[in-house]
Amino acid sequence: MASILITGSDGQLGNELRDVSKQYYGYDFTFTDIDTIDITNSAATAEFIRNLRPDWIVNCAAYNLVDKAESEPEAAMLINGTAVKNITEAIAGTECKFIHISTDYVYDGNSNVPYDENSVVNPRSAYGRSKLAGEKYALLHPGSMIIRTAWLYSLYGNNFVKTMLRYGAEKESLRVVFDQAGTPTYAADLAGAIMSVISGVIRNQFAFKAGVYNYSNEGVCSWFDFAIEIIQEAGLKCQVNPVLSKDYPQAASRPSYSVMDKSKIKENYNISIPHWRTSLIKCIRIIK
Ligand SMILES: NC(=O)c1ccc[n+]([C@@H]2O[C@H](COP(=O)([O-])OP(=O)(O)OC[C@H]3O[C@@H](n4cnc5c(N)ncnc54)[C@H](OP(=O)(O)O)[C@@H]3O)[C@@H](O)[C@H]2O)c1
Repeated sequence: MASILITGSDGQLGNELRDVSKQYYGYDFTFTDIDTIDITNSAATAEFIRNLRPDWIVNCAAYNLVDKAESEPEAAMLINGTAVKNITEAIAGTECKFIHISTDYVYDGNSNVPYDENSVVNPRSAYGRSKLAGEKYALLHPGSMIIRTAWLYSLYGNNFVKTMLRYGAEKESLRVVFDQAGTPTYAADLAGAIMSVISGVIRNQFAFKAGVYNYSNEGVCSWFDFAIEIIQEAGLKCQVNPVLSKDYPQAASRPSYSVMDKSKIKENYNISIPHWRTSLIKCIRIIK
């Protein structure tokens, strides 16, 4: 029975993986978070992994406070960078496959066509630099697959959708930036895609191909468009007004365009990806 270890499993993606795992029989899932394995602790991580001897590891653990990372870059680097090295060192020389999650914020946003996995990376923020360091450490292991995702939301944890639903119910109006374009990702869709890859490889439907992959939902929008859709779908009356990023100062600089080309994951692993609006509607119905 294939053994699958999930780290950082109390977050958005980890919880969605826990839900999706219920559809997969014949796999031995081990869900952990910082209280079971603190992945910044190299000795404890190595010992846990040596004892479990997983066939697959999916690392969902991360430091995701994009603005706070500007004032504590070491903390972000420790969890998003060094801790990934701890995992790859623990599985060095083994056949274990490692799926590590990264971000669209490794791209600088200067493009106006979708980024593919060969596009130059040039993060604008401490968070993006720490995630890029994690990618480099992940790739030290030959059996690593990096999935860059974007604008993640879910029923679980804190995210833009839940914030808009809360503010939309409390406030008469909101200002949301309209000059940053990207694509939201429903974490349940990403969790489903990850399990499709794992189960497809285990069942020999397709070969495991290490390397970097992009995954978000389909389509493009600004945070403003996303907010409008959330408010309308939830039937809220709040007025959403567009604002330029320069008039909405945040500690971390963000890419103004981070749309990703997902052809590689779709073709290599036969994955179909829903449009962001379709998935948003699904998620809001579950939240409400
Ligand atoms: N959220 C987004 O919009 C977004 C966008 C692009 C990419 N991503 C990437 O997608 C992945 C999943 O993100 P997510 O939103 O599901 O993250 P999340 O909700 O923040 O969950 C991360 C989990 O990791 C745990 N964790 C933190 N430090 C840890 C440590 N040292 N050892 C073990 N666990 C630790 C966290 O615990 P605590 O809560 O106690 O800290 C939390 O339960 C991450 O790699 C993230 O960088 C996210």
